[in-house]
Amino acid sequence: MPRKVILDVDPGRDDAVAIMLAALSPDIDLLGVSVTHGNRPLDVTVPNALRVVDWLQLDIPVYRGAADPLLSFIDHERRDPEWIYDLIETIEGSDLDLPAATSQPQEQHAVGWLIETLMASAGDIVLCPVGPMTNIALAIRMEPRIVGKIEEMIFMGGAIGPGNISPCAEFNVWKDPEAARIVLNAGIKKVTMVPLDATHSAHIKRDECQALIDLGTRGGEGAGKLAMRRIARGTELGSKLQAGPIHDALVICAVLDPSVLQQVHHTPLDVIVNPGGKDDGQTVVDLRPGDWAKATPTAQVALSADREKFVRMLTEILALA
Ligand code: RIB
Ligand code: CA
Repeated sequence: MPRKVILDVDPGRDDAVAIMLAALSPDIDLLGVSVTHGNRPLDVTVPNALRVVDWLQLDIPVYRGAADPLLSFIDHERRDPEWIYDLIETIEGSDLDLPAATSQPQEQHAVGWLIETLMASAGDIVLCPVGPMTNIALAIRMEPRIVGKIEEMIFMGGAIGPGNISPCAEFNVWKDPEAARIVLNAGIKKVTMVPLDATHSAHIKRDECQALIDLGTRGGEGAGKLAMRRIARGTELGSKLQAGPIHDALVICAVLDPSVLQQVHHTPLDVIVNPGGKDDGQTVVDLRPGDWAKATPTAQVALSADREKFVRMLTEILALA
């Protein structure tokens, strides 16, 4: 039986590859894609998500969600600064290099759809947030009973080692730390965090991107070009690496085969909310040995990933269509 998945995204090139994998894998039943602000403003991330499903010529519903972090109205500079969009545009380019979307998002708001879908389910849905957790936090606040309906949440976010948007914070958690705090403290029975430590260890190389393009499928061409473009942009900006992470795609591979994640620790997990502070949005785990790390909430946290397996999974799934 394919696993039922809801993907919450902020595309973003790596989000786009995650959508492709979830949509194309025969072992995933992708119920829909909810979209949030994040890599770009919502008015860009929604059409970007639509570009991906149109490119695949699939009929996957896309829902428009939260345009702003929970507290941006009182702390706009900190929670939703303009410079972030300029920075990401510099890194990623101005669009996804996919044709403009012709389809439309669903009428229903993403948060309403999340609640309705989870409440109507048999408790067998895997929730995969790969952007800021604003939609998920709003859904939990509106209908706390959805928490018991989530079979498992596997999310891309957080960092144990260095952050990417501040010395200690990862972008998704940093962009809406209040939302992440609400979600991680809600009592979801099984939570797996896929932090930067894991996604960076599963980087993809230029020649592997080319091999995806050479598969001759829409999935392979689309994902290969998206990943290649990101590596090329990094080179233009001075990076010596001929490789790059596709963060969000690793979450989908973990849904399909948890052994793609390595050095997985069961640990307390929380988020620091400290607006204006250097540690705002930092994820805190407790990797001390022994019994004293018994605090809650807890999660499985992966410190690395099996790079070869990840690339193999990408290749197998994207070869399908
Ligand atoms: O820090 C990496 C994460 O931030 C990825 O999900 C990327 O798409 C951005 O949202
Ligand atoms: Ca993302």
